[in-house]
Amino acid sequence: MGGGNHSVVSEIVLVGLTSSLEMQLVLFLVFSVFYVTGILGNLLIVLTVISDSHLHFPMYFLLANLSFIDMWVSSITAPKMISDLFKERKVISFQGCIVQMFFIHVTGGTEMVLLIAMALDRYVAICRPLHYLTIMSFRTCILLLVAAWTIGIIHSLIQHVFVVNLPFCGPNKVDSFYCDLPRFIKLACTDTYRLELMVTANSGFISLGTFFILIISYVFILVTVWQRFSGGLSKALSTLSAHITVVVLFFGPCIFVYSWPLPTMPVDKFLAIFDIIITPFLNPAIYTFRNKEMKVAVRRILSQVLSFRKLF
Ligand SMILES: *[C@@H]1O[C@H](CO)[C@@H](O)[C@H](O)[C@H]1NC(C)=O
Repeated sequence: MGGGNHSVVSEIVLVGLTSSLEMQLVLFLVFSVFYVTGILGNLLIVLTVISDSHLHFPMYFLLANLSFIDMWVSSITAPKMISDLFKERKVISFQGCIVQMFFIHVTGGTEMVLLIAMALDRYVAICRPLHYLTIMSFRTCILLLVAAWTIGIIHSLIQHVFVVNLPFCGPNKVDSFYCDLPRFIKLACTDTYRLELMVTANSGFISLGTFFILIISYVFILVTVWQRFSGGLSKALSTLSAHITVVVLFFGPCIFVYSWPLPTMPVDKFLAIFDIIITPFLNPAIYTFRNKEMKVAVRRILSQVLSFRKLF
């Protein structure tokens, strides 16, 4: 059959985060600062890597691509969430809601695969240093990126093919601040048990799977460093613990939202804030600005921009 009748539901009402005015003001300030700083930081990284030929190496290309995705991850939901904070009635069109969910899952899925690619890059650099340039060639890099986007798109398509065909007959209230797939599905006027199971399996599988792959690759790297370089362990530990922090912050909420076997709980709507605002803000700080060459390149770019302005 298919071809659900959405004429009854033309818009979705979002409940939002809080109704207290003081809280709204605080959230408005905090979210705006995190969002704008995150976008500027990520933009700076992309521009620096593209314009500086010293940085035309796989690791920096992958970092720039991570920043590029992070800008989308936060821009899909944060601006609407921030502008909605003070609105009495927070609504989004039915189609807008589906588009938002679709892109949340495309960028989320792509980012997860990209994080694996970055861990692979570090693994090869540390554990197979002599073969680094042959293994992580420009071609491998492009292949990894194509794989990441393809997996992200397929992951999202599989779920949304079923969602667009669901029948909706009236309920249109989503208890969150963005269109959240598991909550959206529950609005359909049909038995959605199997679809919910599919979403849990699909999103749960990709987030849990990626999480374990990342943790295992970090353990491998640490063990290798520990065996081969007597003095390198503390440096490796400090770098990897920063990475692991981001991974836990990014995957924790996803795993909780999608793989939790019990009914959704009120806290998970707050957890999503980590993925939407906090990790896109932290990624540049943790992955890139701790890197010495990157710091030098960013300073070079900034001073060029500043001296360019003096000409006018
Ligand atoms: C992503 O990586 C590719 C090479 O692997 C590079 O050519 C491209 O510029 C990068 N994209 C961004 C936005 O940094």
